[in-house]
Amino acid sequence: MAAARRRVEWPGSSDRREGPALSVEQRPEIEALMAERRTFPPDPAFSAQANATAALYEEAAQDLEAFWAKRARERISWFTPFETTLEWDLPFAKWFTGGELNIAYNCVDRHIERGLGDKVAYHWIGEPGDTRTLTYNDLHREVQKAANALKELGVRKGDRVAIYMPMIPELPIAMLACARLGAPHTVVFGGFSAEALAGRINDCGAKVLITADGGWRRGKEVGLKHHADEAIASAPSIEAAIVVSRIGDGASGGVHMVEGRDHWWHDIVERQEAHCPPVPVDSEHMLYLLYTSGTTAKPKGILHTTAGYLLGISFTHEMIFDVKPDDVYWCAADIGWVTGHSYIVYGPLANATTSILYEGAPDTPAWDRWWQIVEDYKVTILYCAPTAIRAFMKQGPQFPQQHDLGSLRVLGSVGEPINPEAWLWYNEHIGGGTAPIVDTWWQTETGMILITPLPGVTTTKPGSATFPFPGVEADIVDGAGDSVPFGGGGYLVLKKPWPAMLRGIYGDPERYRETYWSRFPGMYFAGDGAKRDDEGYYWLLGRVDDVMNVAGHRISTTEVESALVDHKSVAEAAVVGKKDEITGEAIFAYVILKAGQEPSDALGVQLREHVAYVIGPIARPKYLMFVPDLPKTRSGKIMRRLLRDIAEGRALGDVTTLADATVVDTIRDKSGSAEE
Ligand code: WTA
Repeated sequence: MAAARRRVEWPGSSDRREGPALSVEQRPEIEALMAERRTFPPDPAFSAQANATAALYEEAAQDLEAFWAKRARERISWFTPFETTLEWDLPFAKWFTGGELNIAYNCVDRHIERGLGDKVAYHWIGEPGDTRTLTYNDLHREVQKAANALKELGVRKGDRVAIYMPMIPELPIAMLACARLGAPHTVVFGGFSAEALAGRINDCGAKVLITADGGWRRGKEVGLKHHADEAIASAPSIEAAIVVSRIGDGASGGVHMVEGRDHWWHDIVERQEAHCPPVPVDSEHMLYLLYTSGTTAKPKGILHTTAGYLLGISFTHEMIFDVKPDDVYWCAADIGWVTGHSYIVYGPLANATTSILYEGAPDTPAWDRWWQIVEDYKVTILYCAPTAIRAFMKQGPQFPQQHDLGSLRVLGSVGEPINPEAWLWYNEHIGGGTAPIVDTWWQTETGMILITPLPGVTTTKPGSATFPFPGVEADIVDGAGDSVPFGGGGYLVLKKPWPAMLRGIYGDPERYRETYWSRFPGMYFAGDGAKRDDEGYYWLLGRVDDVMNVAGHRISTTEVESALVDHKSVAEAAVVGKKDEITGEAIFAYVILKAGQEPSDALGVQLREHVAYVIGPIARPKYLMFVPDLPKTRSGKIMRRLLRDIAEGRALGDVTTLADATVVDTIRDKSGSAEE
């Protein structure tokens, strides 16, 4: 194990001296498990009935385009068949050109035509315990009514619609209504602030905003409409808003509806006719924008189009989760993130799946809420994030043990590397030791899962996402872009286009090229570090750039820094991720105050709240430390690696490039007292 214990050097990061944050020694569990070589081969009984087979890898390797084209013909209901499988003008891809389709038709109408109208699309469970069941017939009716309401408000093919909602059935209905009209949607996570919402609306020039009065979270009403109002005040493109009444305007203190601009969903949607033909769009028509954090303060509008996306998500959904017609599938993410777009809305609906949609928190009213739902609805497939698994693990196995989880047959994980302990706990306490676990690596940008086991085919190793999906060409390269042999680590790249890949950053093709395709010419660089073991298994090691992963959510260090500096007392700030038992990483902020400002606990609280206000509660720093100065290189670049070392309480590395070495000592002396 001596070799693995060595610190992995990540050559060629933007500033070599600074280097990335990760090393194998920070992940001792991987080391231990790799040494143990513990593997979980598929159960032959599962393999015998599995959707996926090993032959898929060979078929894709033989002719990538033919592999996808065949499935595009089989799986998509086209209004006009496509002519060309792939036009690849690096880094710009077009898939299935010449074709016309509608994704809402593919997700709803065609199932009804096949006699599946009475099949349940969503079992919805509100946090307070209220429930609703929506069949495909129900969806068909509601989507058409919502689409007609959007039409009444002037929305036409190509117009952008912003959606800012809690996890209620009207959220997927709103997305499908947009898609039915060919109007791209941009869903903004309900936990984001008014400012974040306004920024996204303004970037894409959305015409209508669909929102709600609020939602339920941890037994409390969480208001949304006042944030929406504040956002609209600085978003001149918004002409109208549709507001779902979820919490009722009683206890929340009332919702202010602006005459002529705001419409209750129960008025404008309910009075529409339930007939609205799907608008045919080109394969490459923009389906949605989803904003994600990068290494700068400005979130990027990741652009997804229609046909390739539909193919990628529906095919991966069926293969990776082994979805069968009778399954009850639950992706316990929020639709505000890409996981929800691809694997709560479009993937499962394209496959006519029955899904669970749960509004609230996993600990409300108690830590067995999820397991109660699994038992009540006989959930067969569960897809969630390692941060949730670790939180359950911390509470102890008695919560799942109170329930019959025997229906579960496939488990999935997404959002961050799953540590082997959490994998093993998930396997034992949730999967009963028999349900295969699929650890799925992908990104907002990739649209679909790219690295994953295939249940029934792949022998898994706890903590490894195993292998690229058939037809996906991934690699691990060194700083020079050369493939690293098995046993080595480096940067994760993708070398061939895939159908659900992002088509760009909205309004900024140069930034798209620069962000993803310039670090290693000809390759898509994902921003993640990874290593491959001797058998070629991929082990994801986390981000190598200035993006933190907090509870599976990407947050840019720069974005949090700008939010801090936005406060009148702050002169300068530096933010790093600190390892966290539950959330993977936690936000650690170093703050320099302006002259005349005194550090105090109260100010610390105020600054943390300020970040929550500017970006959203998910970005609130867990730790905040006032410092007199920050360690910088002579070129003035903040030495984040050093700040991370201090945050982690690690021994400091080479500091000779520091402008003022004494700064480190001052900071380190204080770092014991940083926690909130
Ligand atoms: C991380 C979420 C390890 C990774 C779908 C990636 C993972 C970022 C995994 C994308 C996994 C996601 N193992 N790391 N199974 N899944 N990640 O855009 O760092 O919110 O770059 O998409 O999450 O986050 P995003």
